[in-house]
Parts: sequence; structure tokens; C-alpha cells
Amino acid sequence: MSAARPPDAPETAARPATRSAHALGEQRTSPSTTELSTQAELAECKARLAHALDELRAAQSKLAQIQKLDSIALLAAGIAHEVNTPAQYVTDNLSFLQRAFDKLAKLVDAQSTLIEAVRGGASIQLALEAADTARHDVKLDYLSRQVPRAIEQSMQGLEQISTIVKAMKEFSHPSGAEKQPSDLHDLIECVTVVARSEWRYVAEIDLDFDWNLPPVPMVRNEIGQVVLNLIINAAQAIAAALPQSAHHKGRIVIATKFTANQAQVLVSDNGGGIPEAVRARVFEPGFSTKSAHSAGQGLAFARAVVEGKHGGSIDFETKTGSGTTFVLCLPLAAP
Ligand SMILES: Nc1ncnc2c1ncn2[C@@H]1O[C@H](COP(=O)(O)OP(=O)(O)O)[C@@H](O)[C@H]1O
Ligand SMILES: [Mg+2]
Repeated sequence: MSAARPPDAPETAARPATRSAHALGEQRTSPSTTELSTQAELAECKARLAHALDELRAAQSKLAQIQKLDSIALLAAGIAHEVNTPAQYVTDNLSFLQRAFDKLAKLVDAQSTLIEAVRGGASIQLALEAADTARHDVKLDYLSRQVPRAIEQSMQGLEQISTIVKAMKEFSHPSGAEKQPSDLHDLIECVTVVARSEWRYVAEIDLDFDWNLPPVPMVRNEIGQVVLNLIINAAQAIAAALPQSAHHKGRIVIATKFTANQAQVLVSDNGGGIPEAVRARVFEPGFSTKSAHSAGQGLAFARAVVEGKHGGSIDFETKTGSGTTFVLCLPLAAP
């Protein structure tokens, strides 16, 4: 319902509005000195904001770079060890197979000499003794059990090495700065392999994937880095909570969920939980409750990537003494 003008209301009541419209029109064509300085200040503010935004973007990409270098440095020793162990037993097995082959070759030689002696009608006594010694040396029973085992173990070792190398290649391969639909499960599997030395002494990892999940639009390298940070944090929380004498391990579960418009990744651990006093600060850049060597950038980076770049969200649920679950939500349609 619109308010009617009372019949006795003076007509001039409308004048101030007309005047001010006129005044505004005047100001538009010839701005006052005060307004000119306000506009200049605004322009300056805008320029400063644009500069700050540029600096923020540069800092973010530097942070991403530092994060990447940090984790590569952190993982390098572990990966070297992961590759070295199977490489070592493949080498041991190969030298065992070489020794076995040498003995078998000697046996074949001695037997050939024996055959030649029999065929030539010569005295076979010496050749027979040599063949007997070679047969005794070769320990055929032992070799027939150990050789297939050594071959199988070596093949497993080489497979292990090639899995690690493939995951490393995938993890470090630049994915480009733009979001591309990617297989989230493949990425999580790759990260758990690359980070194996970080968790395997303290925890088992269970993967609980929702196989209905479609490809997720993401900057693959960066989401990989986020998942890596969450796994490392989970393993460190478990390590800190495990009693020194404990022989049992903790458990990390990485689950995915497909909701109507989101992909979710849940990284749970049964470590000691996040103390109430620091819960509000864990996403702060540089905040860490760990040793002086911890940069405290892992969660800050995760938030910048997930919320800033992907329009998603990252949060956690935690219970002192029971563990923590980080929940990462990524929109399925590009925001
Ligand atoms: N899974 C977790 N369990 C318990 N505390 C955690 C967990 N993840 C992160 N935190 C807490 O959040 C802090 C910040 O984590 P982060 O940014 O990764 O830095 P950093 O690992 O270098 O300390 C950690 O120092 C720790 O106090
Ligand atoms: Mg961390």
C-alpha cells in the first residue's frame, strides 16, 4: 500500500529532492575539490588493493612452491629407503642365482666330461669322481627349493620399485595451474605410496572409496599435496600418541564420498586429537605444536588450495584422546 500525500501538504515539500537532484547533476559535471580528492584516494586505495592482491597471489604460489620442496625433501629420504630395501634383496638374490648357475655349470661340465669318457672308452674313474663332487657341491635339493623363491621375490621387489617410481612420477608431474577433471582415487593411492615411509612404521592405512565418484575438477598437484599434508599430520598425531613400548600400530582411514554436488575426502586417524586450546589456530600460517622444524604451513596451504582455489571447504572433527577426522569438500561443478 502506497502512502497518499495529505491534501494539505505543501507542494514545496518535494522541492528539496528536486534541488538535491539538481545539485547532484551539478556535482557530476564539475566535482568539488573535496570530491576530487576522495576520488583520487579511492583510486589510490584501489591500486593499493590490486597491488596487495598481486602480492598475496605471489605469496600463495611461493607458499605452494615451498610446500612442494618441503615435502619432496621430507619424502626423499623415505622414498630412497623404500626403493633401497627391495633393490637390496634383488641384488642379493641375483648374486645367489649367479653362484647357483656357476655350480650348475660346473656340474654340467663334469657330466659332459664323464659322457665323453664313457663314449671314448677311456678310464672313467676320474671323470666319475669329478662328476660326483660337482653333484655334491651343487646341493640340487636346496637349489630346487631356493631358486624359484629367489626369482619370485626378485620379481616382487622389482614390482615394488616400479610402483614407487610410477607414483613418484605421477606425484611430481606438473598438472598445470588450471582445474581438470581428475581421478581422485588414483591420486589418493599415488600419494599413499609416495608417503609410505611416513606412515608405515606407525599406522596401517585403510582406503574406503565411494566408487560412484565421478572425475573431480581439480589442480591435481595441489590436491595431492593437500592429501599428503593430511596423511603426514595423521601419522605424526598417531606417532605422538603411541606409547614408546607399543608394538601395535595406529590406523588411518581415507574415505571418499559422493554427494549430489560434492566430492568429499575424509582423512581420519586414531591419534591424540587436537587439543581444545589450539583448535581455533590450526589453519593459521606458521602455527605448529610440533618441533621447531615443523613449518606449520600444511593446513594453511590446504585451506588456501581447497577454499581459495577450488571453492570447497576443509574442516575437522576431533576428540581428545580418540583422534581426528579432516573433511575436505570439493565442488563437482567448477565454481
Ligand atoms: N591429525 C591431527 N591430529 C592432531 N593435531 C593435528 C592434526 N593435524 C594438524 N594438527 C595440529 O595442527 C597444527 C598445524 O598443522 P600443520 O599446518 O600441518 O603444521 P605442522 O604439521 O607443521 O605443525 C599441528 O602442529 C597440530 O597441532
Ligand atoms: Mg603438517
